[in-house]
Amino acid sequence: MATSLRQDLRERMGSSGPLPFIDFMQAALYHPSDGYYASRVPGHGSHYRTSPSLTPWFGRLVARELRRMWQALGGPDPFWVVEVGGGQGDLAAHAMEETGSMGVPLRWRFIERFDRVRDWQRRRLGPAAGSAQWSTDLSGPPVVGCVLANEVLDNFPVHLLEVAEAGSVQEVYVDVDGDGFVERLGALSDVALIEPAREAAAHLAPGARFEISPGVESWCREASRALTRGYLLLIDYGSLEPDIWLEHPDGTVATYRGQDATPSPLDQPGSKDITADVNFSAVARAAQSAGFRPGPVITQASWLLSLGIARVAEEIETAGFMAALEGLVQEATVLQGELGRLMELGDAGGLGSLLVLRAAKDAPTPC
Ligand SMILES: C[S@@+](CC[C@H](N)C(=O)[O-])C[C@H]1O[C@@H](n2cnc3c(N)ncnc32)[C@H](O)[C@@H]1O
Repeated sequence: MATSLRQDLRERMGSSGPLPFIDFMQAALYHPSDGYYASRVPGHGSHYRTSPSLTPWFGRLVARELRRMWQALGGPDPFWVVEVGGGQGDLAAHAMEETGSMGVPLRWRFIERFDRVRDWQRRRLGPAAGSAQWSTDLSGPPVVGCVLANEVLDNFPVHLLEVAEAGSVQEVYVDVDGDGFVERLGALSDVALIEPAREAAAHLAPGARFEISPGVESWCREASRALTRGYLLLIDYGSLEPDIWLEHPDGTVATYRGQDATPSPLDQPGSKDITADVNFSAVARAAQSAGFRPGPVITQASWLLSLGIARVAEEIETAGFMAALEGLVQEATVLQGELGRLMELGDAGGLGSLLVLRAAKDAPTPC
């Protein structure tokens, strides 16, 4: 019988001592049977509000970006979108529908590790699944197109670090404590952390926390190998250096279950999502050394403005106004709801503040 997540964690801690937080987070999210993302299709629960799950307009607006990329690449046939961690498949469904009417010969490749999520995505796409493929990682044959990830990098496991006296840095480990888990501070678990940790600590006071996501570099190399030419499009919660450190002296690790963020990631592993803000400066450096030319990092709000969200809002508002004038109360209410969800995509205190990085490989710089 497969070892449960708790048993696995306790056995590993029992045999080799406290685990670096990154290993705990890896297991809590991706343990094959009980990890948060292994045991559910992301998107269930009223708390779940990623842009594609909120409104079809997100996928439709992304389709406009994909058309721009396709045109900038000289109209290749096919144009592949390689979507990593596509969740329920909403973004793919809405973007494929929209690009169909734009004449873009789109094919979609989902990079998805979990069978149950793959099955869900296939069902979600319906007949459009005929234009899609599924792989468990990015190692498939390289294509011309775009590697896309929405709210995925903030689920990459992170080293959790704390500034000690005199600017030295300690790492947060997780240990068994009775039936639960507790934090312990210890030495850095990997020499590769020394330089980036020193860089961050120079901006921070003793007691401050920050994270380092070591998976980003190898992931950007894999994303680059997945493309003969094309683009990387990343959308996520995060900041640039040094703001990511200065604005979050307690670090950015957050946990989500149900409606509320529950405070400790150590509490009931596997039952809740764990995220850490993406360091977009580090991602841009990783993309560059993987062979991409990164464009500026912008907010989702300004990116969607460049894709015409204001015009869409105007059209929905006018249609709602006309429906109300004609006494079509139900239609007016539906349009009002649609407008509200569209506006949330650009909301400065919410989804609008996500950051967007576009980077080109052997292709014109994204405009
Ligand atoms: C918050 S969900 C986002 C789902 C979807 N993109 C959305 O916006 O609704 C994050 C997803 O990324 C997946 N994920 C995280 N790291 C991944 C990786 N390296 N490769 C593939 N999927 C990954 C997780 O399993 C999870 O399904």
